[in-house]
Amino acid sequence: MSIPGPTRVNEFFAYRGGSLYAEDVPLATLAASVGTPFYVYSTAGLVRHYRRFANAFAPAQPLICFAVKANSNLAVLRLFARLGAGADVVSEGELRRALAAGIPGERILFSGVGKTAAEMAAALAADIHQINVESEPELHRLSAVAQQTGRVARIALRVNPDVDALTHAKIATGKKDNKFGIDFAQAAAAYRLAHTLPGLAPVGLALHIGSQLTDLEPYRHAFARLAELVRTLRAAGLAVERVDLGGGLGIRYRDEQPPEIAEYAALVRDVFGALGVAVAIEPGRALAGPAGLLVARVLYVKQSRSRRFVVVDAAMNDLMRPALYDAWHDIVPVMAPAADAPRAAADVVGPVCETGDTFALARELPPLEEGDLVAFAAAGAYGAVMSSTYNSRLLVPEVLVAGARSAIIRPRPSYDELLGLDRVPAWLDRAAAEAERGAG
Ligand code: LLP
Repeated sequence: MSIPGPTRVNEFFAYRGGSLYAEDVPLATLAASVGTPFYVYSTAGLVRHYRRFANAFAPAQPLICFAVKANSNLAVLRLFARLGAGADVVSEGELRRALAAGIPGERILFSGVGKTAAEMAAALAADIHQINVESEPELHRLSAVAQQTGRVARIALRVNPDVDALTHAKIATGKKDNKFGIDFAQAAAAYRLAHTLPGLAPVGLALHIGSQLTDLEPYRHAFARLAELVRTLRAAGLAVERVDLGGGLGIRYRDEQPPEIAEYAALVRDVFGALGVAVAIEPGRALAGPAGLLVARVLYVKQSRSRRFVVVDAAMNDLMRPALYDAWHDIVPVMAPAADAPRAAADVVGPVCETGDTFALARELPPLEEGDLVAFAAAGAYGAVMSSTYNSRLLVPEVLVAGARSAIIRPRPSYDELLGLDRVPAWLDRAAAEAERGAG
């Protein structure tokens, strides 16, 4: 009796005839044409995850603003724009991307703890839905920019509910010691202040308590505090028309059991349903994460006395999450191993000159040899967006697949382009000689 081998990563990346596909496109074929490493996204996967959110929340008709930071490729944003999504942006660059992708200003939210005056002016010029303000000094700055530009800024006050999101410390944002949001105890006074400043139209409250949440309880606490604040402010005669509940819903990387979107939506309904507020949410990872893979090729398998290293051609600069958060990504071979193939522990590492350039330690993997392709799962969010050219490696390309179609949606740059970003001053050789004489 033959035991079946692995069948799929998820419904969008499955094995057919022993080879891993992105929808109807074999990854081995993409690797041959694009070269490795590269990211690949499934259109069906992106659409499916957006639809799940939209359907679960349908009764409340919230503004679903994709958190652009999770995946800011213009093709991905264009797809979400076609689906009717809005965008949560945190910089002028993200604002420009969202607008360029066809997301209308009226569906764009601007979040972030450190907006510059220029970014505020750009947001006002695009007449976006709302700017989420995180401090009193920011209220004053925005008021000044609004007056200078002759615009009125619709603002929500982002509060810090002092709730533990029970997630990795580097992506928890809702505790009072985190830099985000205005201290809960100061929120009412700040909201009142906002009403007195020219150029500001306070419309509501916002929060975002962290990312990769796998438990609903932190949301329950934070939402309850926010609802309490809505009631307090209204009792004081201040209008609160909108709440923005941020993002953060987690996905499965290893063995996490994130809440169902329906449970999350039900919680929102329970807490805010009776308040008569317009709701916005800002999911990023839950929409894009499962819809992407990073594909890499094995360069060497190196056996030391104590460890077996699988050296791949992707590195920490291409997918930073393991180095930065000790994050787990499933690693699967593109050619399915035999079901009875022996598994052995290996450290999967990249070529960058740091020990931190490690994707997995003592990971149980099927046999892998030089030249084999591997895929890192759940890499559609916080993957390509966090990549860099560290070690002067070329920025990793991105590919979008839809059925049997595929397209490169960000090409791998050339080395000329990489080197062409730098400028050597005309005076440099002379200055070097002078400095050397001076040092002598
Ligand atoms: N809204 C705001 C204001 C945020 O700061 C974030 C994420 C989101 C929405 C979207 O959160 P999501 O639904 O994607 O969890 N680089 C880290 C994640 C950083 C998240 C930062 N803020 C990672 O790779 O895990």
